[in-house]
Amino acid sequence: MPSATAIAHPNIALIKYWGVRDRAINLPASGSLSMTLGGLETRTTVRFQDGLSGDIFELGGRLADKSSAARTSTHLDRIRALAESQSFAHIVSDNNFPASAGIASSASGFAALTLAAASALGLDLPPKELSVLARKGSGSAARSIFGGFVIWHNGADDESSFSEQLWPPEHWPLVDWIAVVDRSPKVTGSLDGHRLAETSPLQAARIASAADRLAECRHALAERDFQRLAEVVELDSNMMHAVMMTSTPPLLYWAPGSISLMKKIAAWRNSGIDVCATLDAGSTVHCLTTTEHETQVEALLRGSDEVRELYRGIPGPAARLVASADPAPAE
Ligand code: DP6
Repeated sequence: MPSATAIAHPNIALIKYWGVRDRAINLPASGSLSMTLGGLETRTTVRFQDGLSGDIFELGGRLADKSSAARTSTHLDRIRALAESQSFAHIVSDNNFPASAGIASSASGFAALTLAAASALGLDLPPKELSVLARKGSGSAARSIFGGFVIWHNGADDESSFSEQLWPPEHWPLVDWIAVVDRSPKVTGSLDGHRLAETSPLQAARIASAADRLAECRHALAERDFQRLAEVVELDSNMMHAVMMTSTPPLLYWAPGSISLMKKIAAWRNSGIDVCATLDAGSTVHCLTTTEHETQVEALLRGSDEVRELYRGIPGPAARLVASADPAPAE
């Protein structure tokens, strides 16, 4: 039976994707830029089997809930259509990071699923095509096909909205200290959140200035200028959260601990430490820092009452196929 196993990493958006122009094919409202997070990973095996009456999706050792299973099957349908296959599949997927980490697993999950399923069905797609395909499962998954620092072009149509690597992981060994401040599950997932973005009167202003922030972020990364990076990353995160807070209905992802930590991070940076904060659709604070300051930032975070759990991400590799018998690396 045709099967394949793939590993993919989540990513942290330095310039965010929030809002879609075309829901059917997941065209984003603006371009985005991320760092692929090595150390954290999803491993997915897809085995197409005769005799199944539907797809079976096991996530973290148990059958996935109905809506995740349906979203996965819809994505497999896209890959089956390309390969002209009618076989159903048994999918086994595991994350080496807990759900409580507040790290979206849809990016790594759909990147690994796309690569494994395409390969199992004999489709030899170049990374650009894999990224177009992964995008339709989950927007941020388009970026997790690549390693290092990755841009997702907003594009004008299906084929032109793809990701590509700007720099490999070794370009700048930034560290993302991922600080969990609240373990309660979030109320609105990003799938529904994207739909609300256009109800905010601030979304048009955010989109109008998104290309400038993306260019500024690229310059800061090219020059490895942390101060410049910190300013644009925090501005872009705050602009996305301003849109979220002013949607109808409003979405407030920040927890009291997120705000208190953001204030501390601003003070630490004022005192000369390389550190800045960015938050995706959740209360978890991603604290970016440099190798020079990572130990100091870690100590400050471990000494902060707000921080419940701490995970470390570094620029990581692209999604890739592995032998299914490979043991998962210990983290
Ligand atoms: C806030 O990629 O999770 O993390 O396309 O509905 O799967 P879907 O959304 P998703 O949205 C990510 C939003 C974000 C910002 C970002 O990663 O750019």
